[in-house]
Amino acid sequence: MGIRRLEGIFLWYLLCIFVISASAVDIKHLNIWPMPKSVSHGYGNLHLSNEFELRTDGSKFADASSILKDAFKRSIDVVRSTHVIEFNTSKIDPSLVLKGIRVVVSSPSDELQHGTDESYKLHVPARGSPLYAHIEAKTVYGALHGLETFSQVCHYNISSRGIQVHQVPWAIADQPRFSYRGLMLDTSRHYLPIPVIKKVIDSMTYAKLNVLHWHIVDTQSFPLELPSYPKLWNGAYSIPERYTFADGEEIVSYAKRRGINVLAEIDVPGHAESWGVGYPALWPSKDCKQPLDVSNEFTFKLIDGILSDFSKIFKYKFVHLGGDEVNTSCWETTPHVQKWLHKNRMNGSKAYEYFVLRAQKIALSHGYDIINWEETFNNFGKKLNPKTVVHNWLGSGVAQNVVKAGLRCIVSNQDSWYLDHLDALWQGFYSNEPLTNITDPKQQALVLGGEVCAWAEHIDASDIEQTIWPRAAAAAERLWTPYGKLAKDPEKVKSRLSYFRCLLNQRGVAAAPVDGLGREAPIEPASCYLQ
Ligand SMILES: *[C@@H]1O[C@H](CO)[C@@H](O)[C@H](O)[C@H]1NC(C)=O
Ligand SMILES: *[C@@H]1O[C@H](CO)[C@@H](O)[C@H](O)[C@H]1NC(C)=O
Ligand SMILES: *[C@@H]1O[C@H](CO)[C@@H](O)[C@H](O)[C@H]1NC(C)=O
Ligand SMILES: *[C@@H]1O[C@H](CO)[C@@H](O)[C@H](O)[C@H]1NC(C)=O
Ligand SMILES: *[C@@H]1O[C@H](CO)[C@@H](O)[C@H](O)[C@H]1NC(C)=O
Repeated sequence: MGIRRLEGIFLWYLLCIFVISASAVDIKHLNIWPMPKSVSHGYGNLHLSNEFELRTDGSKFADASSILKDAFKRSIDVVRSTHVIEFNTSKIDPSLVLKGIRVVVSSPSDELQHGTDESYKLHVPARGSPLYAHIEAKTVYGALHGLETFSQVCHYNISSRGIQVHQVPWAIADQPRFSYRGLMLDTSRHYLPIPVIKKVIDSMTYAKLNVLHWHIVDTQSFPLELPSYPKLWNGAYSIPERYTFADGEEIVSYAKRRGINVLAEIDVPGHAESWGVGYPALWPSKDCKQPLDVSNEFTFKLIDGILSDFSKIFKYKFVHLGGDEVNTSCWETTPHVQKWLHKNRMNGSKAYEYFVLRAQKIALSHGYDIINWEETFNNFGKKLNPKTVVHNWLGSGVAQNVVKAGLRCIVSNQDSWYLDHLDALWQGFYSNEPLTNITDPKQQALVLGGEVCAWAEHIDASDIEQTIWPRAAAAAERLWTPYGKLAKDPEKVKSRLSYFRCLLNQRGVAAAPVDGLGREAPIEPASCYLQ
């Protein structure tokens, strides 16, 4: 191939880049992520006042703890932080200056729980004097989503050097398709410092995720302080790699102020070796350390203590009790446990069932509904408490069996929604449909939603953000946007997802390029909007 020809190809390539990148950032595109339930917009432009203000007159919500005020400030701060603002809006026609946003919330309560109404309406008029945007919501948490959407229609204008609201007038009516839209963090395989967890929580709000599933402890380490059993956190990797009980409370409160529930997990009996560092009696023996000793009453007394402590800070309706990957060989080969099994006429699998059901009863006694990983359903589904939510992970096709049995389900099938699977691409995250093969509306209602999981064998503070984003965003749209508005072909939303990825970068989130494997470095020099 001659040099000429190569040059020609190169020029053509540059032209393509220019055309595609121009269209990705084209203001005519609707670049909101996740796509709202219903949107209409025009093609006008407004300037955001330098004194842009929050007004809440007419709202029944008193905002005693500043949830709304703080969210407003955060939304405007992320919009303003992208560039130095040089434009002075006091010098132009006031009918083109948006003075503020008026937020009307009809519920006085700031309670956040599973099923809390998250709907909102956002209206930005094209002209007016005085000119205000409007958000209407049942709860403050719906209003928070409205503020997030508003922040996504604000743009820095490089010629005016100020913030503008593009595509006015806007009329958006929005609400989530599923009530459970989760992200799982694992702080046992690697400890995550609290500021890192908080930054992840902030980034979740950009994609309207609403549950942080905190897989706190596992085989490798036990970082959380629990007052009832103060030696449990002896199983932490080191002294600095620990969370005090007050830290736990702080994470819950930080998340709640952003509309995010925290689902705490203890994964029993199979993923619990680290518990025995502080309390060796929990191990069947020194040589065989998990599952937790089913024959020892102390095991259940301790679970009761943990859940009693949990109930003081983790106020979400659900607690996760794990129950996956239980290999009962330690029970069958350790003499004193073997003896207990024999006396109680149980084999290993029966004892596994006994353990899970007993742990469920303890959780119920503390007022929780239970979530268990799917093996519990696959092995003894009929015995599970009717309040159980089955958490799918092994493969697809499980949800349909769970809801047929009348139980609720959360979908996280590993082939599509495990973030630590770096070969799971964003297209698969986007296309994974929780209601596959579930047509009966009563059964559909039993699917609470889904969750993407960041198992942390190879994740710590150094790479967590790029492992989560942008692939979690692809799942977030699947869980938020009405089915009929989702693209059948994910390539159709690619430029909007790239836009959202660049928005995350602008907000200081280390979201990886959309192209390539999970958390991969950019492949070559190019615009953010093209990779
Ligand atoms: C904007 O212009 C007004 C009127 O000229 C002036 O009083 C004000 O200080 C200016 N604000 C900024 C931030 O420059
Ligand atoms: C930026 O502002 C200028 C002047 O107000 C306007 O003409 C232009 O259309 C704006 N650009 C975009 C991308 O909206
Ligand atoms: C269960 O654990 C035993 C002992 O560690 C091991 O030999 C066996 O292969 C494991 N079984 C399964 C199914 O993983
Ligand atoms: C364990 O016992 C149950 C009956 O309690 C039986 O159905 C099952 O087949 C047994 N499992 C094994 C592996 O022997
Ligand atoms: C859904 O049903 C179709 C047709 O019966 C089947 O081919 C497919 O494998 C099912 N999908 C899942 C995830 O079970």
